[in-house]
Amino acid sequence: FDAVDVIRLKRDGGELSDAQIDWAIDAYTRGAVADEQMSALAMAIFLNGMSRREISRWTAAMIASGERMDFSGLARPTADKHSTGGVGDKITLPLAPLVASFGVAVPQLSGRGLGHTGGTLDKLESIAGWRADVSNEQMWEFLGKGSGAVVCAAGAGLAPADKKLYALRDITATVDCVPLIASSIMSKKIAEGTGALVLDVKVGSGAFMKDIDRARELASTMVGLGADAGTQTVALLTDMDVPLGLTVGNALEVRESVEVLAGGGPGDVVELTVALAREMLAAAGKNDVDVEAALGDGRAMDVWRAMIRQQGGDPDAPLPTARETHDVTAPRAGILTEMDALKVGVASWRLGAGRARKEDSVQAGAGIEIFAKPGDRVAKGQPILRLHTDEPDRFERAIDALGGTLTVDDVAHAPGPGVSTGR
Ligand code: URA
Repeated sequence: FDAVDVIRLKRDGGELSDAQIDWAIDAYTRGAVADEQMSALAMAIFLNGMSRREISRWTAAMIASGERMDFSGLARPTADKHSTGGVGDKITLPLAPLVASFGVAVPQLSGRGLGHTGGTLDKLESIAGWRADVSNEQMWEFLGKGSGAVVCAAGAGLAPADKKLYALRDITATVDCVPLIASSIMSKKIAEGTGALVLDVKVGSGAFMKDIDRARELASTMVGLGADAGTQTVALLTDMDVPLGLTVGNALEVRESVEVLAGGGPGDVVELTVALAREMLAAAGKNDVDVEAALGDGRAMDVWRAMIRQQGGDPDAPLPTARETHDVTAPRAGILTEMDALKVGVASWRLGAGRARKEDSVQAGAGIEIFAKPGDRVAKGQPILRLHTDEPDRFERAIDALGGTLTVDDVAHAPGPGVSTGR
């Protein structure tokens, strides 16, 4: 094949054949298709879309570009979840040990934050000694004989075509495209070898998908890709207009996750953790289990401690805290009516919890504590947010990013077209 012919066909609204897709992905991974050519093809896909057959083949070709793990030989069933990303979304931290406490292994390959969304690995790295790198052999051992849960970085061998393509999309305005997002996420999750997969598709200001119709399209595309590959997949659509829980940041989110594992924590975090755990356990064949009980009686906490230790971390080490804090207070008495997830996410990022470029490091202690959520009554001068950072010159940039999102009114606003947890 010739790259120019393939680009032209897609540019003119045609459908790529299976052989053309296999060739394009393979040649790109080998360097025989240049970045410029793949950028043009990605933009043609962005503008003209792909058929279901094309998306499925594209995903299969990205999986075939690297290794595919296989945990079917483990004595335990496997289940994983993927969130499309949000603000304050620390759910993996309590969820993985919770599910593993029921004898279902959780092989969770996670990422780092980029932009305003946090990354699970950045959060866990705030625990002294904890390491994200786990070899395939260690993964087998941890899942089969260890804690049963592993949260780690994906090795270089997993879907290398996606690694290259994602970096290219990031700098060519071609990220925000359902066929490319769906194939990117699912190629990694299918290559990871999980038996069952639960997708938490976020909808709202702090999510990739701002509106429910596109979120639904992304969810159903990914569920279809899972089915094509023989990975049992379900999706929930959940709200991301307001940050999840009462903390945004790295160590701050670990602290809140540990509260959930100790039987406490904010209601929305517990509710989503339990809902996703039920789906994962059902997909692994465990329907009649009391999920909440494992949070209340310490079983999930025991697995968490084992999971942190097996990757070199000390679950008893004090979590790092930022050197400086600054409170954002209510301008008047009334009811808090708005707290935009995107703005809070960007503010946390500016405080140092996220990175501006891939190679930057993050501040473990930076982020935001939330003392009131929309619908809560507040007194004049009461702290609503506490900003944390090691560098006080970041406060001004963070307050700028909040852009007056904390509005206080006499009456509660009717909730928007809220999205409930559902299929
Ligand atoms: N996450 C991914 O892994 N890929 C995308 O394209 C978008 C989000």
